[in-house]
Amino acid sequence: MAGVMIMVLLCLSAGTMLGVQGEDPYLFFTWNVTYGTRSPLGVPQQVILINDQFPGPNINSTSNNNIVLNVFNNLDEPFLLTWSGVQQRKNSWQDGVLGTNCPILPGTNFTYHFQVKDQIGSYIYYPTTGMHRAAGGFGGLRINSRLLIPVPYADPEDDYTVILNDWYTSSHATLRKYLDDGRSLARPTGVLINGKNAKGDGKDEPLFTMKPGKTYKYRICNAGIKNTLNFRIQGHTMKLVEMEGSHVVQNVYEALDVHVGQCFSVLVTANQAPKDYYMVTTTRFNKQILTAKGIIRYTNGKGPASPELPEAPVGWAWSLNQFRSFRWNLTASAARPNPQGSYHYGSINITRTIKLVNSASREGGKLRYALNGVSHVDPETPLKIAEYYGIADKVFKYNTIKDMPSAKIGKVVTQPNVLNQTFRNFVEIIFENHEKSMQSYHLDGYSFFAVAIEPGTWTPEKRKNYNLLDAVSRTTIQVFPKSWAAIFLTFDNAGMWNIRSEMWEKTYLGQQLYVSVLSPELSLRDEYNIPDNALLCGKVKGLPKPKPYTI
Ligand SMILES: *[C@@H]1O[C@H](CO)[C@@H](O)[C@H](O)[C@H]1NC(C)=O
Ligand SMILES: *[C@@H]1O[C@H](CO)[C@@H](O)[C@H](O)[C@H]1NC(C)=O
Ligand SMILES: *[C@@H]1O[C@H](CO)[C@@H](O)[C@H](O)[C@H]1NC(C)=O
Ligand SMILES: *[C@@H]1O[C@H](CO)[C@@H](O)[C@H](O)[C@H]1NC(C)=O
Ligand SMILES: *[C@@H]1O[C@H](CO)[C@@H](O)[C@H](O)[C@H]1NC(C)=O
Ligand SMILES: *[C@@H]1O[C@H](CO)[C@@H](O)[C@H](O)[C@H]1NC(C)=O
Repeated sequence: MAGVMIMVLLCLSAGTMLGVQGEDPYLFFTWNVTYGTRSPLGVPQQVILINDQFPGPNINSTSNNNIVLNVFNNLDEPFLLTWSGVQQRKNSWQDGVLGTNCPILPGTNFTYHFQVKDQIGSYIYYPTTGMHRAAGGFGGLRINSRLLIPVPYADPEDDYTVILNDWYTSSHATLRKYLDDGRSLARPTGVLINGKNAKGDGKDEPLFTMKPGKTYKYRICNAGIKNTLNFRIQGHTMKLVEMEGSHVVQNVYEALDVHVGQCFSVLVTANQAPKDYYMVTTTRFNKQILTAKGIIRYTNGKGPASPELPEAPVGWAWSLNQFRSFRWNLTASAARPNPQGSYHYGSINITRTIKLVNSASREGGKLRYALNGVSHVDPETPLKIAEYYGIADKVFKYNTIKDMPSAKIGKVVTQPNVLNQTFRNFVEIIFENHEKSMQSYHLDGYSFFAVAIEPGTWTPEKRKNYNLLDAVSRTTIQVFPKSWAAIFLTFDNAGMWNIRSEMWEKTYLGQQLYVSVLSPELSLRDEYNIPDNALLCGKVKGLPKPKPYTI
């Protein structure tokens, strides 16, 4: 791993800086973020590299590890990374979104410090600034089980990360300019598997190798910005074992729809004739289908992969049915959701229902995307930092939207979008999509129970169709066109947390909001102080840090 410094050591004193137990091991990384030239679709173009890699390096961690990751921004624009799906307990300071962090300015660096918990599973990190995510800077993040926590399957022979993404040959700056000029993005130019697309000319290097008879884990994530991607492997089935930190009932699939921002872990057994096979990904829900393939090679293999690719599913009913087949494994002892060990989410009383309706509009010729009529903009002073310094009233207003928007979204207002949450309340959120396009949402800081997705509009009577028993606890949820999705969660993680569309042009143009979750005690038990190395900008630039919480 060129340029990546990884040291695992017992660090007894530094533990206090995170308020964590001193005996948890530390992983140190130094990341150099630069532009570089790659030709993922055969044409040289500018991409974003981390330590010269595209996609970026994998973070391989084990639950309870402390991660110390120093990011040097050598781009010409401010930059931030987020650790999508990693819960950051008490610590929205490390979330790497513009509502919690000042961006890392060009030519400077910032060190993220966070601890990964018992969220055993597969995740991605990606840039949250501008349209950087369209150009790279993303990669895989694993949280492995500590040896004392059993996982519900035998150790695989090897463990592979498969990053899928849709891809534009235009630079991130060009894409951003389209959006700033009021245009939406056209279809992507292609799709990629780990930054590549096999040519099929017999000269492609394999992405992965398998020994005959052995079983492998593949962690499949969609790091793209727009398209649901279907994933399948010629001649092989996939046994689903984990999804965004939850062990699931181990169904076998021939194809999986990976919506934007989602990750799945599957087991694949090399039980076919020894030769090459293609793994294939194709865009979904568009007339024009984009395809990428990559080679899996049997170690004793003789012969190329067949040019005949397995067929993609058609229509979104297939995808909805697949969602309904996902069930949480209630007996697996690993991977606990929040609140810790709450298996009985179906019997907790809902204290608040929030319906979020996405819309697109043109205000004064400008394209904006909104939730409940508010199109979010990031103030120069990050919301969390303004709140911590006691100057929130100078930067943003709380509760800009109604919990239940009226049927018709009126004029869209562009302003910071922040919702108060009462600490530890159990809340139902409905995402309602009246548009003809696919949606995928992500919530930082939490995992939630994905209890339903249905066509049409939501009414309280629909609750009788919820899965109140074994819905998967996860961190992203898709919403099909003209459909809704419902999630349950307990707001027990204090901080300022981003809820966003994973469709990045929509997020960039305002389809996101923040929930402010403050513990009434303002205590270190519930939330960490601003870190010593926090970057300061906007109205707090140069100001001394407020008196820290001490208890
Ligand atoms: C990062 O990469 C750039 C370009 O290759 C190089 O000039 C710079 O010295 C590197 N910085 C670090 C901290 O490695
Ligand atoms: C990842 O970490 C685990 C646990 O520390 C280790 O067993 C495994 O070899 C590592 N994998 C890679 C690819 O570094
Ligand atoms: C920047 O990197 C240096 C080490 O090169 C480190 O000492 C410093 O803390 C980093 N800055 C931030 C803000 O994390
Ligand atoms: C659930 O996990 C348990 C315990 O690890 C395992 O024995 C069982 O096979 C899993 N059940 C299913 C349906 O996958
Ligand atoms: C939930 O609400 C019902 C009806 O209002 C009430 O009877 C029950 O005690 C509540 N349960 C809990 C756990 O608060
Ligand atoms: C929202 O939270 C802030 C910060 O605690 C508080 O000042 C404000 O009164 C709250 N607003 C509402 C409507 O609850």
